[in-house]
Amino acid sequence: MAEDILISENATKEERYKELLPQIAALIDYEDDITANLANIAAVLKYGFNFFWVGFYGVKQGELVLGPFQGPVACTRIAFTKGVCGASYSQKRAIIVDDVDSYPGHIACSSLSKSEIVVPILKNGEVVLVLDVDSEFLSSFDDVDEKYLNELALMIQKKL
Ligand code: SME
Repeated sequence: MAEDILISENATKEERYKELLPQIAALIDYEDDITANLANIAAVLKYGFNFFWVGFYGVKQGELVLGPFQGPVACTRIAFTKGVCGASYSQKRAIIVDDVDSYPGHIACSSLSKSEIVVPILKNGEVVLVLDVDSEFLSSFDDVDEKYLNELALMIQKKL
């Protein structure tokens, strides 16, 4: 089934989240395959906001393993103790990094990425996925992104 996503021009970031989250909800409502849903969510966020990289890492065999994403080729495996993704996993909370070059332990999959937000997705109280969003610009993410990406994380959680 083909889906068209409506994206208004000149919308603020918050307006855009408010516009896109219900469309994501509708998109994943009729599909129960988690890989298919994560792939489409990555596409909506990438093209809805023109982010540099949007993707998911799943918890597998004691580490984070690359899942569906949109953007350049990325690192395939991340230890729980490494990077922004590992920190979000370990602390079970969203982490915003304004300048990845000054974040100790940041894993640079691309030198073009300048700022980042990682949001955990939990099942039965345990992190099973993290959503990682990278921007080519410094300080791209704030509490608006955290609020709406946390809402998205809850939406995904219901489909797990
Ligand atoms: N920068 C991340 C690694 C994943 S890539 O950005 C896609 C980190 O430090 O965990």
